Amino acid sequence: MRKPFICGNWKMYKTVAEAVAFINEAKGLVAGTGDVEVGIGAPATALKSLADAAKGTNIRIGGENCHWEKEGAFTGEISPGMLVEAGCSFVIIGHSERRQYFGETNETASKKIKAALASGLDVILCCGETLAEREAGKTAAVVDDHVRNGLAGLDVRQLQKIVIAYEPVWAIGTGKTATPAQAQEAHAGIRKLLADLFGKNAADSIRIQYGGSVKPENVKEIMAQPDVDGALVGGASLKPDSFAKLVHYGK
Ligand code: PGA
Repeated sequence: MRKPFICGNWKMYKTVAEAVAFINEAKGLVAGTGDVEVGIGAPATALKSLADAAKGTNIRIGGENCHWEKEGAFTGEISPGMLVEAGCSFVIIGHSERRQYFGETNETASKKIKAALASGLDVILCCGETLAEREAGKTAAVVDDHVRNGLAGLDVRQLQKIVIAYEPVWAIGTGKTATPAQAQEAHAGIRKLLADLFGKNAADSIRIQYGGSVKPENVKEIMAQPDVDGALVGGASLKPDSFAKLVHYGK
C-alpha cells in the first residue's frame, strides 16, 4: 500500500515570519491525517524556523533544491547536509522552474539526488513535458528521459527514498490541470518505466505525485486515479485553509 503524500511547494514565497505563522495556523488543521503524509518545500531562509515550528506535528519540511557537494566555493548554493541541519527530511530536485531558469539538467539532478540520499534526505524528483513537447507527441519520451537519467545509478534500496512528481509544465501555475485521465496515463507510464529499471515490486512501492494547478476543487478526482499517490502543490499550498483541504482530500 502506498501512503499518499501531499506536499506544498512554496517556491519563492513567504518570509520567515509568514512561514512560521502558516505553521502555527495549519498544524491544527492538518492534524489527524494518519493515512496521508504531509510536507512543505520552502525557501531556504525559512527552513530552520519552519522545522522548529513544525516539531511535534505531522508536517515534514523540505528544501526546494540543493548542491551535490558537501561544501565548497559555490556561492549561493546550499548542501544537503545544511538542509538536514536546518531540520529538513526531504528535498525537491529537478523542478521544471529549475530546469527552465537555473540550468538544471538530468545530470545535475542525478548528482544532487545521490548527494541528498547520502545525507539521509528523501527526494522528490520532478519530471514533465512542456506544451510544445506534448503537442509534438513527445510526452512519454520526455518523462522517460527525466526519470531514467535522474535515477541513473541508483539501486532498489535507494529508490525507496524517492518520490516522483509528474508535473506537466503547461499545468504549473496556469490554472490548467491535466485531466485525471492524462495524469493517470503519464503515471502508469512512469510506473512501467520504474518496473523496467528496478523491477515490479520496487515500482509498485514508489509514490508518484501529480503536480500542476492542483487545488481543493480538483484534488479528489486526481487522487482517485490508481497510479496517483499524492500531489505537489504550489499556489494552493500557500494558505493554511486551502492546504488543509488538500490534505483532507479524502474526507
Ligand atoms: P502549482 O505549482 O500548483 O502552482 O501549479 C505546482 C508546482 O510547481 O510544483
